Amino acid sequence: MNILLIGGGGREHALAWKIAASPLVDRLWCAPGNAGIAQEAEIAALDVTDHAAVVAFCRQNAVDLVVVGPEAPLVAGLVDDLEAAGIKAFGPTRAAARLEGSKGFAKDLCRAQGIPTAAYARFTEAEPAKRYVAAQGAPIVVKADGLAAGKGVVVAATVAEAQEAIDRMFAGAFGAAGAEVVIEECLTGEEVSFFALCDGETAIPLASAQDHKRAFDGDQGPNTGGMGAYSPAPVLPEARNREMLETFVLPVVRAMKAAGSPYKGVLYAGLMMTAAGPRLIEYNVRFGDPECQVLMLRLKSDLVPALLAARDGQLKSFDLRWSSDVALTVVMAAKGYPGSYGKGSPIAGLDEAAEVEGVEIFHAGTARADRTIVANGGRVLTVSALGATVAQAQARAYTAVDRIRWSDGFCRRDIGWRALERESAAS
Ligand code: AMP
Ligand code: GLY
Repeated sequence: MNILLIGGGGREHALAWKIAASPLVDRLWCAPGNAGIAQEAEIAALDVTDHAAVVAFCRQNAVDLVVVGPEAPLVAGLVDDLEAAGIKAFGPTRAAARLEGSKGFAKDLCRAQGIPTAAYARFTEAEPAKRYVAAQGAPIVVKADGLAAGKGVVVAATVAEAQEAIDRMFAGAFGAAGAEVVIEECLTGEEVSFFALCDGETAIPLASAQDHKRAFDGDQGPNTGGMGAYSPAPVLPEARNREMLETFVLPVVRAMKAAGSPYKGVLYAGLMMTAAGPRLIEYNVRFGDPECQVLMLRLKSDLVPALLAARDGQLKSFDLRWSSDVALTVVMAAKGYPGSYGKGSPIAGLDEAAEVEGVEIFHAGTARADRTIVANGGRVLTVSALGATVAQAQARAYTAVDRIRWSDGFCRRDIGWRALERESAAS
């Protein structure tokens, strides 16, 4: 079959790598892709915001399935437009993608279904929001309702900080995403991500992963899209998959079906492991990036039949096999990220790095300039490794990182520290 993958980050490189390995696939395209994805797929010169152009490309090239990686095209209804044109697409529809596209929508659904989450209130005006914050006290969390590229959340230590964030959001700091604001109780604990595959009727667990959101070692510095990840997350062992599915995933699938917008695709539950038990922080309607990279390394089964079964409502007796190894990924980012950064600096040593046992390098933001790979984004490479232990996966990933010569890049040196501490405590 022929597949078109939408996206151009490290997540999509990992998906392209896994999809290309499927014996079911004849041709694989990706749009917009990147220089690493170009080793696995043909790059399609397509503007993915132009849904009619994507439909036309699929018709011309007899595409059998479109796999949508990022949230923006899902929230924009790309899956709806493809399916309306008779083209199979993996991922939620616009209505189902509101679970990520509107934090207020997701919170209301949690409340209605009894899904454990932080207490909250929704506001469309600054003054009542500020009064609510004053009454609740700090710390407190202020969130823009819509998509804000991971930047629309302020965990405020003081009431003044929260009120300032409310003013900024209503002043348009996040555009239309901040026209409504959600204010939440501040949860404390360890964060973990739980992934499931949904087919509109039911769901199966994928795996757990942990992400490092802060830019610098010791979980310091500004929030980013994620500077590294590992799977499984020791804080959420596989033995708890059923409980996580029943608490955070199946109620959503049932509610979305009942509301007439069945949920198909990956459902990613961001959880806080509080002293009172796991609480939902947010839903995402796609794989995490860089969590996808570690999930794909551990997935032994062919991914393509699973994506098709999710699209076709056939997951009921579906089973996926996972490696018991640990996968760990280190993000190499351009100096300055998550703030402003330069593009175009050359990267060498990728081939030597890829020779390290157990290592796969997924490109997040690269381009090719003649024969050279150059940086073309904030997060640029995700250097990933499998190992029998966290220590081994981490050592392999950093051995590969140290073979990469890129003067304009940086990475954290402590990815996996929590899991490593647990591992050494247990041995
Ligand atoms: P989100 O974009 O919703 O994932 O939020 C970004 C980050 O903000 C999360 O990964 C958490 O670290 C933090 N966060 C979000 N909501 C809360 C909350 N209710 N309590 C504490 N931290 C939160
Ligand atoms: N790594 C976090 C995310 O993909 O949202």
